[in-house]
Amino acid sequence: MKNNRLVIISYRLPFTFKTENRTVSVKPSAGGLVTAVKSLDLSGSSQKPVWVGCADFTQRLWETNRQLVADDDFEYVPVFLDKKTNQDFYNGFANSVLWPLFHYFPSFVDYRHSYLEAYQAANEAVSAVVGEVVQPNDIVWVHDYHFLALPQLIRERHPAATIGFFLHIPFPSYELLRLLPGKCRNYLLSGLLGADLVGFHTTDYTIQFLQSVQLALGMQHRMWKIAYQERLVQSGVYPIGINYAMFNDAYSDEEVIRERIELKSAYKDQKIIFSVDRLDYTKGVMQRLDALDAFLQEYPEWQGKIVFILVVVPSRDEIQRYWERKQMIEQAVGRINGKYGTLTWLPIMYQYASLAFPQLIALYTACDVALITPIRDGMNLVAKEFIASRKDQQGVLILSEMTGAANELGEALLINPLDEFEVAEQLKLALEMEPAEQTRRMAIMQQRISKYDVEKWANSFMNDLLQTQETLKKSQPRQLKTARKQTLLNQFAEAQSRLLLLDYDGTLSAFASKPELAAPSSDVIDVLQKLASIPGNTVVVISGRDHETLESWLGHLPIDMVAEHGAYLKQEGVWRNDLLDDDSWKALVRPFLNDFASRCPDAFIEEKNYSLAWHYRNADPDTGFIRSRELIHTLEHLLPYQLRVLDGNKVVEIKNVDTDKGKVARQLALAHPYELVVAIGDDRTDEDMFCALTLKNHFTIKVGRGSTNARHRVENVSQVLALLKELAEQVNPTPAL
Ligand code: UDP
Ligand code: G6P
Repeated sequence: MKNNRLVIISYRLPFTFKTENRTVSVKPSAGGLVTAVKSLDLSGSSQKPVWVGCADFTQRLWETNRQLVADDDFEYVPVFLDKKTNQDFYNGFANSVLWPLFHYFPSFVDYRHSYLEAYQAANEAVSAVVGEVVQPNDIVWVHDYHFLALPQLIRERHPAATIGFFLHIPFPSYELLRLLPGKCRNYLLSGLLGADLVGFHTTDYTIQFLQSVQLALGMQHRMWKIAYQERLVQSGVYPIGINYAMFNDAYSDEEVIRERIELKSAYKDQKIIFSVDRLDYTKGVMQRLDALDAFLQEYPEWQGKIVFILVVVPSRDEIQRYWERKQMIEQAVGRINGKYGTLTWLPIMYQYASLAFPQLIALYTACDVALITPIRDGMNLVAKEFIASRKDQQGVLILSEMTGAANELGEALLINPLDEFEVAEQLKLALEMEPAEQTRRMAIMQQRISKYDVEKWANSFMNDLLQTQETLKKSQPRQLKTARKQTLLNQFAEAQSRLLLLDYDGTLSAFASKPELAAPSSDVIDVLQKLASIPGNTVVVISGRDHETLESWLGHLPIDMVAEHGAYLKQEGVWRNDLLDDDSWKALVRPFLNDFASRCPDAFIEEKNYSLAWHYRNADPDTGFIRSRELIHTLEHLLPYQLRVLDGNKVVEIKNVDTDKGKVARQLALAHPYELVVAIGDDRTDEDMFCALTLKNHFTIKVGRGSTNARHRVENVSQVLALLKELAEQVNPTPAL
């Protein structure tokens, strides 16, 4: 990383300008992303990192005041969007479509085509600026939902760039994402796939992203890697941390101590409960106030003995859903204060303003209980900051289980934010918790979050990003041409015993409109015959087809065969079947396949002894694809554990987990000390075979495009046949006429 310059891109720059009495000053921006990126320790890097973001000030103001931020750790490059574009991009698509949708508030989504257009325009404008800024060896790190399309746009300008993307909010289940129009959904997903590494806070978000890519774009991942446009895109989990030392040290800061004493003496007869959030419906402030009401109602003995300091930081208040929330909160605060307040006591102290750092830490460290109850939150840094700042190891955290942070803070009192009675009960428990128990819980959480702090977060993302490029490059299968092909031919000629495992459809024979039409050509018969007659060769056709068809086409050849992915095996002329599969499951699955076939003209079902296959090769490509995604999604939730869904080449197949080409291939390869094993296949099921054959003398070849575990690649069926002919010639050259 020392020799690489970092280029950060986020919607918000970490500062804004404030003009008061004609004097311009710099003010920090609020929110988790800015806090995190600003806390990165970049002292190790030899070049000043660049931070590109959208300006919320005019170009003129920037030109005349840029010196105010000239000494910062970053060089800033503001992008100036025109007012309307910015409005429809930021308030519109980003915060009235993506934000509510990704936080599971679909009814708050206000989808408009003009918003999408502005989002596209803004992403284009930023990519143009980034395109100018980026130099070879730079690492580009794009942040958050404002720029889902940006990685691909940057990739188009700089195909070899190293690009990382991190999402600071949840990635929702496909059920939510599919609410977006198909074109829009695909634009966003393929935008993300422009990155080399796409990071999320939690495993759930990552899996939901991978599933969405599969269901929307049809690309399957392997070990969280997706093959996209001849590149591989890695995804991973990086729960964001905080600058632990900064928050922990702040406890003893003089100004913080002063503020803390002031706060404590203002409420010396009361226990202090607090919360701090940006104004946002996702933060669950209304439900929190309901819970406080329930608490005071259920446990009246606490009336007069607590105070709830509710800080709401202004945010996005031009959007109706936000400003109306502010009104709702203020009404609820008034209602509860009116209901329980006396001439000398009010239960809620409310502030609608941001806090300076010392005030924030004073609040964190003066309180008895932190009441952090979002309905959804990608991570929630306030919870982590609260834990870190408690050098005294006192205080209790009540935390919503709907936050990403709950994964790491299991010693907090975890609650469902919608259950006001549960929250009230936990609040009572928190207020009554013994100091020793508070310390016990704090100590464990502190240890955990101090280990994975913001520096670790950034470093592990960066290391993975740099390594990803290296490993992905290495793991790309190589075209089987010239030198590599010659190596294979030589090894084949020199070996005394060889095993050839050849898939049928898409490998020996091109796909036909109906499975029964893909009979072997005379060329195929001929080459199989030749290969099988070479001493020391064992030729196996390893297929997902039923054994009757294989027998009728190839039964006369001196070769072995595997049918239905391993359910049937023919050796030395005899078919056998060792699988004890009761096929009663077919009755459960068949009606679903019929239903999907009836809603997809020209799709059809193939029934084999041990599997059912739903083919959509002849259907309209779009309809077939959409139905196949729905079918896979449905089956994933339906199938009993012994069944597996294979997302093949224009076919969805359901079969027993006990049979796969990998298991048979391994079994066959180990049955004899072969000096060379060559496996060729094109489809998803052949990947099992490639994964199983990893020894030095195993030569795995994928036919066609797409991600693969094979080490080599050829383009098509004719190249396979040409290769097989050349192999046969190595040992039995055709006599010259
Ligand atoms: N914060 C802030 N100004 C304030 C109060 C808080 O910038 O007046 C910071 C707080 O320290 C935290 C961030 O805002 O780092 C909030 O992050 P969180 O992940 O909790 O929520 P987000 O705002 O990102 O949804
Ligand atoms: C969340 C988002 C950030 C955003 C921040 C503040 O943390 O993930 O991208 O910057 O909220 O929101 P705002 O709209 O004020 O930038």
